Amino acid sequence: MQPLLSAVSLALLACAAGRRSPPLLMAPPHVGDDPLPPDQWYTQQLDHFDASETRTWQQRYQVNDSFYQPGGPVFLMIGGEGPASAVWLVSGTWIDYAQQYGALCFQLEHRFYGDSLPTEDMSVENLRYLSSEQALADLAAFSAAMTEQYALPEGTKWVSFGGSYPGSLSAWYRLKYPHMVHAAVSTSAPLLAKTNFFEYLEVVNYAIHAKSGDECYGNVELSFQAVEDLLQDAAGWATLTDKFKLCSSLDGTNSNDVSNLMQNLADLWSGVVQYNEDNFGFRGGSKLANITINTLCDIMNDAGTGSPLDRLVAINDLMMDAYEETCLDFSYDSMIAAMRDTDFSSANNTGMRQWIYQTCTEFGWYQTTESADQPFGSRLPLPFSIQQCVDVYGAQFEQTFIDAAVAATNTDYGARQLPAKRVVLVNGSIDPWHAMGIIESSDPDRPAIFINGTAHCANMYPAREEDLPGLTAARQQIGELIGKWLQED
Ligand SMILES: *[C@@H]1O[C@H](CO)[C@@H](O)[C@H](O)[C@H]1NC(C)=O
Ligand SMILES: *[C@@H]1O[C@H](CO)[C@@H](O)[C@H](O)[C@H]1NC(C)=O
Ligand SMILES: *[C@@H]1O[C@H](CO)[C@@H](O)[C@H](O)[C@H]1NC(C)=O
Ligand SMILES: *[C@@H]1O[C@H](CO)[C@@H](O)[C@H](O)[C@H]1NC(C)=O
Ligand SMILES: *[C@@H]1O[C@H](CO)[C@@H](O)[C@H](O)[C@H]1NC(C)=O
Repeated sequence: MQPLLSAVSLALLACAAGRRSPPLLMAPPHVGDDPLPPDQWYTQQLDHFDASETRTWQQRYQVNDSFYQPGGPVFLMIGGEGPASAVWLVSGTWIDYAQQYGALCFQLEHRFYGDSLPTEDMSVENLRYLSSEQALADLAAFSAAMTEQYALPEGTKWVSFGGSYPGSLSAWYRLKYPHMVHAAVSTSAPLLAKTNFFEYLEVVNYAIHAKSGDECYGNVELSFQAVEDLLQDAAGWATLTDKFKLCSSLDGTNSNDVSNLMQNLADLWSGVVQYNEDNFGFRGGSKLANITINTLCDIMNDAGTGSPLDRLVAINDLMMDAYEETCLDFSYDSMIAAMRDTDFSSANNTGMRQWIYQTCTEFGWYQTTESADQPFGSRLPLPFSIQQCVDVYGAQFEQTFIDAAVAATNTDYGARQLPAKRVVLVNGSIDPWHAMGIIESSDPDRPAIFINGTAHCANMYPAREEDLPGLTAARQQIGELIGKWLQED
């Protein structure tokens, strides 16, 4: 799984606490000296689809009304699989659009993440209230309540925003609740649910080629081959334990531990690729923030560092230092034990239990090595991911169940068809998640914007001097589309 770029605090320490955090989460952008708007709380229904269930809970939201011009639009930033940082209320491209169009801005945190806790714990029994459908209904109920609370004039136009999983929610909100939301901006959104997401590592591969070239790719492949060769016997296990500074001795007969180790090694690359050169808030402040694909490839191509294996070890050292880790914990059992912790207030609550539950019951999106078109070996087969659903949530969450849930999600939302108007879909060429996005569009009312060379959610972050021209153009194009759509009835 990709490292969490923690939205909860501006220190990257939360990231250092563990790499095992939801893979899609966006980090908040830069923040200036302005005070952040305070948290507010909305009394939300526990279950929108069962009238006999009357329990409620407190859902966190934030507001920025500084730019609002009476009669103007309302912008809604959709929270995702982590805490909803108030930093988004004062920074990010959508705030520029809000200034431009005189919008009132809200952000609503997603149920079960951050401090929006609908139930007393995360038992499997309680997690049945965690779904994208419930989250969309939360948005609709919240919008209706705010329309009343702020006495918004009739015909006020709402525009939803989101990146990553919330990008999907933004598109689906417009699809399912077109009477509540006038237009939607959907950034880096996976729209096709798919159990076996082998395409993820293919795009990581493509990104390495695109940013650094064939030599780097070849060396990555050689280094993973060398690791797999060492998995053959006990002497090799000892070498791997030593070189990669594993927290305990590797037993190569434990295939779950081996896969978990290989996941960590592949994540050295995918964690960097997914956020390559994104202008997130920690830049300059953390060791992680300035590590790019080119940083890794410079090491990978440096014969002076030793064999390809030793160069991968050097990258592991660099990343362990950035994450402030003293050893690499590859134990499958300890990962599962942490994810079985149902306590919201536990330090184990990184959002992973909730997010993986959503993958097991709605989306799949398991990043396997089941493609020849990637350099990371073959030890991340689909059954390894399925096993995690079973081991964390129970025996019923096996492959047939997941496949059926994924098919139901695609039937529910229409996958890549997305028959909705006034939705703009933005993808970046080196963002691995784009492979689950909309392929192309000839519909001017549902355009797709492709940004050559950018990673996950790049267009949502504040502009900078060094932005690629395609990124600057995309920001402008999205702003113009919002303006055009706000003119329409
Ligand atoms: C809204 O955002 C602007 C731009 O960052 C900031 O100056 C202002 O203080 C914010 N307003 C509120 C109420 O937080
Ligand atoms: C990251 O930035 C720090 C300080 O700004 C610098 O010392 C370091 O060399 C940079 N690391 C990389 C990999 O560029
Ligand atoms: C995390 O979960 C494990 C396994 O349930 C437990 O032993 C440990 O105490 C938990 N850690 C914290 C900080 O609560
Ligand atoms: C991203 O959008 C562009 C423009 O519509 C399209 O050409 C490209 O194929 C898309 N990429 C993916 C993988 O969705
Ligand atoms: C993307 O940018 C790269 C490098 O700038 C260029 O070689 C490539 O042709 C571009 N691709 C597209 C589809 O525009």
